[in-house]
Amino acid sequence: MNALPEDIHTLADYERHAANRLPPAIWGHIQEGSGFHGAPDNDRIALDRLKLLPRRLTDLRGGSTAIELFGQHHATPILLAPVAYQQLAHPEGELATVRAATAMGIAMVLSMLSSITLEEVAHAAQDAARQLAKPALPHWFQLYAQPDREATLTLVRRAEDAGYQAIAFTVDAAVKRAGFPLPPGVEAANLRGFPTQQQITAHDAILFGTPLTEHAPRWEDLAWLRAQTTLPLLVKGLAAPEDARRAADTGADAVVISHHGGRVLPGMPSALELIAPVRDAVGPDLPLLVDGGLRSGTDIAKALALGAQAVLVGRPQMHALAVGGFTGVAHMLHILRAELELAMAQLGCPQVSALGSQHLFRP
Ligand code: FNR
Repeated sequence: MNALPEDIHTLADYERHAANRLPPAIWGHIQEGSGFHGAPDNDRIALDRLKLLPRRLTDLRGGSTAIELFGQHHATPILLAPVAYQQLAHPEGELATVRAATAMGIAMVLSMLSSITLEEVAHAAQDAARQLAKPALPHWFQLYAQPDREATLTLVRRAEDAGYQAIAFTVDAAVKRAGFPLPPGVEAANLRGFPTQQQITAHDAILFGTPLTEHAPRWEDLAWLRAQTTLPLLVKGLAAPEDARRAADTGADAVVISHHGGRVLPGMPSALELIAPVRDAVGPDLPLLVDGGLRSGTDIAKALALGAQAVLVGRPQMHALAVGGFTGVAHMLHILRAELELAMAQLGCPQVSALGSQHLFRP
């Protein structure tokens, strides 16, 4: 803890410090889509507009933030969102993040584009659990469809063999311009030996007819993937309620409502605003996860009160890595968990499942 600046008390403090520590190009890459370029931050606006309504004199004895997802125990409804190339923020990259996540009992969704291989990250998680005498956590693997199904399947099998406990299939970023050249020493470690994929870097380049659009995943690919694995399958990056229902009908075990941190299509609603319509479309039972701009315990409480079962946090991992590596990420997660417990206790909720619309103020 001595290595951390003394004035860090919130995730916003990590963001502020990280801005001063990271090279401008890397900082710009991480913050892209977040309001950094002056675009309105829909997530922040929606979060700030929503007000909480505490319920008093409830019984808080035996309270816990724990939840179950797909039969897995999670100590909190918080997961680390898949964030690519974490060595951009710290030399230990995903190894530091997964150790911190393990220490804090929070599961990591490892990006397919991790800068350390998925097997090394899984080993680091197991070693950390052993050393800390903690139970092994259900870490998950995030997958992008590869141009050929054999390559996609290879990644699924590697994730299964390494012990990942769910697959999050991200479907919103197949068509994306790559404006950021990776510095030497940082690479997509899981894709070594895979054919190099074409990148579209120019911001005015024509897309249709290129491999990017020709190989973009389709509904039949989701059905195919569903048939390939018995692991829980989440579809990440859905917004339209009808798409969420179709994903469930195609066999998805959960949906992650997400706009990829504002990085793929300007002008989308905040993920928060989509929770209620998506819930209406999929019915009461399908787990809904949500991410985008969640930066405090009260932000998370609002997402849960609106009907999400769990949330993911993205950029704060990179901010905390840049400021303090392993210690930074562990501290950042501790802050979030402590803030969530305070929010739940204040709202009068001893359990995550007790959070609901009765905790939201609707004038
Ligand atoms: C991402 N995100 C992302 N998502 C994914 O499915 N696979 C990936 O490899 C990445 N990589 C990635 C890199 C960086 C630098 C950022 C900022 C984001 C999206 C991520 O999982 C998540 O949806 C958003 O980051 C959530 O928003 P916040 O918490 O960053 O506001």
